Amino acid sequence: MKTINYTENNNFKAGVITINRPSQLNALNSVVIDELNTLLKSLEKSSDIRSIIITGSGNKAFVAGADIKEFQKHNIQQAKALSQQGKEKLFNKITNFSMPVISAINGYALGGGLELALASHIRIASFSAKMGLPECSLGLIPGYSGTQKLTRIIGSNRAMEMILTAKVISAEEALNMGIVNKVVDQENLLDACLDFSKLFNRTSRESLRAAIKSINSSHLPHGEDIETEEFSKLFETDGFKEGVAAFLEKRKPIFQ
Ligand code: CAA
Repeated sequence: MKTINYTENNNFKAGVITINRPSQLNALNSVVIDELNTLLKSLEKSSDIRSIIITGSGNKAFVAGADIKEFQKHNIQQAKALSQQGKEKLFNKITNFSMPVISAINGYALGGGLELALASHIRIASFSAKMGLPECSLGLIPGYSGTQKLTRIIGSNRAMEMILTAKVISAEEALNMGIVNKVVDQENLLDACLDFSKLFNRTSRESLRAAIKSINSSHLPHGEDIETEEFSKLFETDGFKEGVAAFLEKRKPIFQ
């Protein structure tokens, strides 16, 4: 894991996490998931980090999925634990993270790899990236929220097509389908993500957390109530005081 510092507006940082298992195309085994969980917990505590970027090492893969070799002999109970613990430690932790998480998709994002990207809040891919949920071709289905999150992002019609056919799509197809926000050349991928992350500097930390929570609740029956709750709680935050003061004083806000 490395952290990159940059200065603009304030001196916030983007924490860059590189999944470093290139010989296995960065496949997610239990060790990698535990390490990511520990890293995310520590990054969440640092007050000068405003966003996280996750990428894979090498030019070939973001993450080629959950580690098939590790789970190949699992029984039903072990498979259930794999899915539940993966969601708790990593996938839902990212989705519900208190600051924005950007996936920098630098190659294959298959199965659990695409699910990791779908758990993030923003996805930027290189032109060479390839994405898919091929689990049905292994006699499985996506087990790290792929059936849920892909459906919410692109609708059930297209999610059915992608998951039931196990097809792998290009970055440009993913852009057209609304799976990724942007596609850039591989050599510019990290810079594009860092540039994107600078946009978060003009928003308050508390607003980012509340917006992520509210947007994530949009499919829940009580989503409207969560939005109202989060909206009202912001009125007693430093970010709101500074944002409004800056507007009235005709200057840029300086958020902490
Ligand atoms: N799990 C374990 N090992 C993997 C892996 C995975 N998901 N993906 C790649 N690897 C390993 C390969 O076994 C190989 O290791 P060895 O050299 O030790 O044999 C190494 O990474 C390089 O891979 P390939 O030789 O296969 O590389 P390639 O260029 O020929 O093919 C690929 C690349 C098309 C991505 C191919 O590796 C592939 O199809 N990988 C599996 C993709 C997949 O099915 N992902 C879904 C996993 S299931 C899942 O994620 C379940 C869930 O939702 C919880």
